[in-house]
Amino acid sequence: MMEEIKVEKVDKRKARPADGELSFGRTFTDHMFTMEYDENKGWHDPKVVPYQPLELDPAAACCHYGQTTFEGLKAYRSNNGALLFRPEKNAERFNNTNRRMCIPEMDPEFFVQAIKEAVRVDQDWIPAKEGTSLYIRPFILANEVYLGLKPSSHYKFVIIMSPVAAYYPQGIKPTRIYVETEYVRAVRGGTGSAKTGGNYAGSLKAQSSAADKGYDEVLWLDGVEREYVEEVGAMNVFFKIDGKIVTPELGGSVLPGITRDSVITMLEDWDYDVEVRKISIEDIAQAYKDGRLEEAFGTGTAAIISPIGELNYNGLKMEINDFETGEVASKLYKTLTGIQTGKVDDPYNWTEEI
Ligand code: PLP
Ligand code: COI
Repeated sequence: MMEEIKVEKVDKRKARPADGELSFGRTFTDHMFTMEYDENKGWHDPKVVPYQPLELDPAAACCHYGQTTFEGLKAYRSNNGALLFRPEKNAERFNNTNRRMCIPEMDPEFFVQAIKEAVRVDQDWIPAKEGTSLYIRPFILANEVYLGLKPSSHYKFVIIMSPVAAYYPQGIKPTRIYVETEYVRAVRGGTGSAKTGGNYAGSLKAQSSAADKGYDEVLWLDGVEREYVEEVGAMNVFFKIDGKIVTPELGGSVLPGITRDSVITMLEDWDYDVEVRKISIEDIAQAYKDGRLEEAFGTGTAAIISPIGELNYNGLKMEINDFETGEVASKLYKTLTGIQTGKVDDPYNWTEEI
């Protein structure tokens, strides 16, 4: 049995930005959730407190060796309150990530309860405009004060919340993607299937040099042969080739996206032929040359469904679907966001009231 969550509310609420002025991840709500871990007490002292800076000893392990993990999910405003989308999947993945990073697991039901409690306190912050939501970022920092390299004996778990609009400033419009052939994001046996800070820090170099060339994101290839497609930016990736939908298998270096899983389920339900397999970038290029590459898109909580308008592979500029959002991406976006906001029937029982 976990302790009761204490709630300490702010004296004065902040001014909330208008829904039309939101971007992604720059504004934070009035409160946050925190909980501590040490070897004697386990996870303890759960509370919702006013949003505030964290106090961190400069020798805390996370500052040096990157023992940090995180999750990402959203709360949506619906006609009858607020909804979460498959939060038990985030709980499960958080524990998988934590195991990989030698961080103690937590009770998955408590993880969801903590999120619900934090969102309840700040539920006025869930924006209502179409395409907006409250992004929820649970994370753990290793904070033992020790410079030796070993799993920390102390951790802090925090949940912060941010009202957001589309992830890309251009909204849900096709993106330009650079196929990265020098740097890799993850290798089999590494940490690619975990949501841990280092994966993202390591991806910045490729992303910023792609941005310098005018691209929005990179398409990651596998870390061994640099041949097989893995992910696009911080999203899973799908292609429509010859009428079939193809997405890379997880294989240990790809993050198991909850949107990916939901998209596969919906597409199969709609009678698409979905192939989960290795996909070589050469095959994508050939399909493009033969006129068989019909659509490509990324999937993720932050970016939802993000159509790919151009793929640049070693100078071969593949324009996809005339740089227009494709039929499959549009239908997925409408249905998924419809289910998430309670506007469309949820045959899978994916949403949960807060
Ligand atoms: N791949 C990476 C590297 C990610 O960080 C994310 C985002 O969470 C995803 C894929 C998509 O996962 P999900 O659909 O669970 O948000
Ligand atoms: C998400 O989609 O939730 C992520 O964690 C990706 C992040 C880069 C915003």
